[in-house]
Amino acid sequence: MIKTKIFADANLVIGQADKNLYGSFLEHIGRAIYEGIYEPGHPSADENGFRRDVIGLIHSLNVPIVRYPGGNFLSGYNWRDGIGPRENRPVRLDLAWHTTEPNEFGTDEFMKWCRTVGVEPMMGVNMGTGTVKDAAELVEYCNHAGGTAISDLRRANGAEEPYNVRYWCIGNEMDGPWQIGHLSADEYGKKALEAAKVMRWTNGETDREAPNGRLRLIVSGSSNHEMDTFPEWDRVVLEHTYDQVDYLSMHRYYEYSEDRKRPLEDFLGSADDMNEYINTLKATIEYVRAKVRSRKRVGISFDEWNIWTQAAPRTEPLWKRAPHLFEDVYTFRDALVFAGLMNTLLNNCDAVGIGCLAQLVNVIAPITTKKGGGTLKQATFYPFELLSNAARGATVRTFSDSARFESMFGPARYINEAVNYDREKGTVCVSVCNYAQSDAETEIELRSFGALKAEEYYEMTNADLAAVNTFASPDTVLPQKKDLPAVKDGSRVSLRLPAMSWSFLKFSVQKAKA
Ligand code: AHR
Repeated sequence: MIKTKIFADANLVIGQADKNLYGSFLEHIGRAIYEGIYEPGHPSADENGFRRDVIGLIHSLNVPIVRYPGGNFLSGYNWRDGIGPRENRPVRLDLAWHTTEPNEFGTDEFMKWCRTVGVEPMMGVNMGTGTVKDAAELVEYCNHAGGTAISDLRRANGAEEPYNVRYWCIGNEMDGPWQIGHLSADEYGKKALEAAKVMRWTNGETDREAPNGRLRLIVSGSSNHEMDTFPEWDRVVLEHTYDQVDYLSMHRYYEYSEDRKRPLEDFLGSADDMNEYINTLKATIEYVRAKVRSRKRVGISFDEWNIWTQAAPRTEPLWKRAPHLFEDVYTFRDALVFAGLMNTLLNNCDAVGIGCLAQLVNVIAPITTKKGGGTLKQATFYPFELLSNAARGATVRTFSDSARFESMFGPARYINEAVNYDREKGTVCVSVCNYAQSDAETEIELRSFGALKAEEYYEMTNADLAAVNTFASPDTVLPQKKDLPAVKDGSRVSLRLPAMSWSFLKFSVQKAKA
């Protein structure tokens, strides 16, 4: 048994957790689009072929924003292939994933899907094979009212009103040699600057005016912190683009591997490692901000994060349409690390304004579908669902005396927590992982919130770290509802956190303190 104290104070606010921290990502890859969100003829499909059963689960996850259409796919994608009458759309080779892209689903379908689901689109422009002109013209297609060849094309394709897309990624992982049209930091920085400029001009933004609101532009940062070019890539790209962009993108996937020295500890250290990675980029942004003498602060868009067992071999043949690619089956152990990664994102909400869980359906996703059949909630579905619906408002600073363990990333905390305070709703939400092999007697002191009453208490734990949910046995890994703990003096709860567990608590504020 270990003993820990966690202390949080309502006045010590890190920042407001943007709702977009709970964003996600859909790429033209595997069965994410086809058989994932789009399957005409499926019993639950609506008149557009959108699977309503999947939409229901996305609603449960409370996802506010979805990044599209890639990913690596983006860097070879010509957006013009995906518009207009379906029978005229070309079938193409997708060189990112070596599959065949039928282009039955494109920009207009995505916009319609976003409206149906009630999510905001976060579009990407191709900086690999695409030009600055292609990028500007996609903005024109989406955001210009009409009266020009490109905006009238959208109207002819059935969308009279502009989509007014606000969030735009300028390319994807352009630092990676695997990227179609990979560039050096200097080359990409210059190209991204030009793309950003003309995208803004196309959107009607001048020094004084932005009639439709300003675009929120996201420039590609390092695709992970193991790249040789990290963090120099981020510095150089930001120096070129700082004044034109709003966010620096970062990506990171973690995985469990038996081939490591300490497989479990090395995996459990992921949340603390993600924290280090974000801290380095915060510092890089501050450095560039000082260097270019800017008053504004570029934020971080962590627009790809998840657990991904990348070592898994590909079993599907080349050039297949909608193959089963990267359909990771998430274990209870994955869900534990996943919850810790969510805590890290929340604890860095002063800088991280967007988070996109990569991805949303079928491909490294919390939702799995069967062609013509049902859906499955993966183990990672549950921490996302509980936190996305409750951990809102301000993230407050926590202090804990957690002991540490050694991982490949350095020392990491056994107890990993985040506390959120939604002043408007009068709720406090605590998310806490116990990564120790023994139970943890934990005293949580929540000061200055007013008298608290426990409203919800869930715990995820499982004797089998490798337990998974399957279509045959969908409820193997689930959060269990627990008896509500007593709140001493309206602010202190004592919990016994089981070894290897994630716990979620929600409190209501009974009486706000003046
Ligand atoms: O999400 C899967 C892939 O991972 C994305 O296409 C790419 O951006 C990243 O390397």
